[in-house]
Amino acid sequence: MASTTPQEPGLSAVPSYEEEQSQARFDALINQDSRVEPRDWMPEPYRKTLTRQVSQHAHSEIIGMQPEANWISRAPSLKRKSILMAKVQDEAGHGLYLYSAAETLGTSRDELNDQLLTGRAKYSSIFNYPARSWADMGAIGWLVDGAAIANQVPLCRASYGPYGRAMVRICKEESFHQRQGFEILLALSRGTAAQKKMAQDAINRFYEPSLMMFGPPDDQSPNSQQSMAWKIKRFSNDELRQRFVGMIAEQVKVLGMTLPDPELRFDEEKKQWIHKDLNWDEFMEVIKGNGPVNSQRLERRREAHREGAWVREAASAYAAKQAQSEVA
Ligand SMILES: [Fe+2]
Ligand SMILES: [Fe+2]
Repeated sequence: MASTTPQEPGLSAVPSYEEEQSQARFDALINQDSRVEPRDWMPEPYRKTLTRQVSQHAHSEIIGMQPEANWISRAPSLKRKSILMAKVQDEAGHGLYLYSAAETLGTSRDELNDQLLTGRAKYSSIFNYPARSWADMGAIGWLVDGAAIANQVPLCRASYGPYGRAMVRICKEESFHQRQGFEILLALSRGTAAQKKMAQDAINRFYEPSLMMFGPPDDQSPNSQQSMAWKIKRFSNDELRQRFVGMIAEQVKVLGMTLPDPELRFDEEKKQWIHKDLNWDEFMEVIKGNGPVNSQRLERRREAHREGAWVREAASAYAAKQAQSEVA
């Protein structure tokens, strides 16, 4: 059976007997759709890819708290406020599970955090767009969390055990997030003309960035193939985008709103959704750090980290005291 791991150029060509055995065991786990656990041997490129993916995912959850946290104090009722607070807290929890999963691959939480704070790590580019109105809380929940679910449900079966298990719980919470977003838009869509306009404007701004959350088209996404061979990823970027666009094309009708895409239609012959060309130049610019609020998001995170120093110190002092009393 073919090895699932590519030969890295420049590495000594002849693997040792032990290396061959380890690789064979790893390949068997992948081919049997079984799970790779932290104690198992894994090829370095697999470990590296996963560390990058899981930590970027964790960073996205943490940075993703910001656009909505900004609206907690301005939520239009006590009920909306408590729902939004619960949602933002969920995202913090998702970040924590995912940092824990990433740590099992051998990189410390401090190092991962440092990568984020120094701008070396990426996070989902959608969070570099500002949330301008209350309706954005609806559009973010419906479209951004909706795209996250489409992306993440297949990740529940990711070949790396800790990642897949973290995703199971995360997906349950994400579906609540999507519903609460949809419900905000539904309330606005039944409101005054100004409220309807606000909802439509939010949908207009988040439609295209949410479709881009699935990443570049398949023919421009060279790493996807390898991730699929390793069974980290189960569907291609375009396949996932198709599912998502089909879902929101139906749901938007319930809202009585429209998606800002005159080309959107289902092609019966090709059995696929046709949507407008997405602005990948903008996507690349946002990824490079030139999005509308990239620097604001990172600055806020650095500030939160500085403000949390006393909590980290207190927790370490408490842990040291506990360890001492156990020895005594
Ligand atoms: Fe989340
Ligand atoms: Fe969420």
